[in-house]
Amino acid sequence: MSDHVIINEVGLRDGLQNQPRYVDTAHKLKLLEALLAAGIRHVEATSFVSPKAVPQMADAAELVAQLPERDRIDYSVLVPNVKGYERARAAGASAVAVVLSCTETMNRRNINMSLAQAQAACTEVMRLAAADGLIGRAYLAVAFVCPFEGKVGRDIVLRLADAMFDAGAREVIVADTIGAADPVHVEDVFGDLARRYAPASLSGHFHDTKGLALANCYAAFTAGIRKFDSAIGGLGGCPFAPGAAGNVATEDIVNMFESAGCPTGVDLDKLPAAVAVAEQCTGQSLGGRWLSWRRTQDARRAQSAKK
Ligand code: COA
Ligand code: ZN
Repeated sequence: MSDHVIINEVGLRDGLQNQPRYVDTAHKLKLLEALLAAGIRHVEATSFVSPKAVPQMADAAELVAQLPERDRIDYSVLVPNVKGYERARAAGASAVAVVLSCTETMNRRNINMSLAQAQAACTEVMRLAAADGLIGRAYLAVAFVCPFEGKVGRDIVLRLADAMFDAGAREVIVADTIGAADPVHVEDVFGDLARRYAPASLSGHFHDTKGLALANCYAAFTAGIRKFDSAIGGLGGCPFAPGAAGNVATEDIVNMFESAGCPTGVDLDKLPAAVAVAEQCTGQSLGGRWLSWRRTQDARRAQSAKK
């Protein structure tokens, strides 16, 4: 099995959706440019959700119309329902991702549907995408722990993965939406999935709420997973899932896999510039653990150059 790891940058969507300050389209594109300059080739660009529910994503169509290098970058957009799918298709999106939460309560809180309704809506979107020649992807949200219902059983995750692949999904992304999973649980769930499906059709999405995101990514890697979501600077959080902190930072996951001899195609040295743009956009101080280490190194070097 190849050790090459694909990094899917979700900072523009999962990262920004919770930010109180509105980031306009021009600044989102500036952030995207810095990410592409660092070698990022897979990007979740935005979501076609209700602008009342998530004002930060109100410019989804404008953003999609201006995405650069569409022939060589894999851009995905998130859609919560058929209406979102129609908007995404009209805007020219070529890959759409649905979000199916693994518990009843989380579906209600996130998209105001029961689990059965959400499954039906996601199935419909996957069918439409396949028929229209778009790539369909499906997130299984709160696949390990739900903020409302606690630990999630493996059976439901497998059942929903089956349903999404049957509906035509090309990829299933298993998400620890609130960052409450542990590496043993992650390796078990991904192990089951990877025995059932081609590992290349599976992906992991981890938040770093308790500092376990990298450990969980590595646990999934051990189970054969080679594609991961991450957000530049550790941006992120879900407005509908209490306790969700930022995604695993792109610079941290790139550093981990590159150090371990698993190429990502991303130039770590160029990621601090992208974090700086994300900081300008959000007005927040950002950065994963690798970046604080890197800044200390740079400061030391600058200090000794002065002597
Ligand atoms: N895009 C834009 N507007 C949408 C929409 C979409 N995908 N789906 C529904 N709407 C609009 C409807 O047209 C309606 O508008 P109106 O009030 O002007 O008539 C309004 O939203 C309510 O529609 P309804 O179908 O009753 O939706 P709802 O109130 O049950 O909300 C969602 C459902 C999915 C639209 C909403 O919960 C949502 O957007 N959630 C976002 C979830 C999210 O982004 N989570 C984080 C990522 S996992
Ligand atoms: Zn997330």
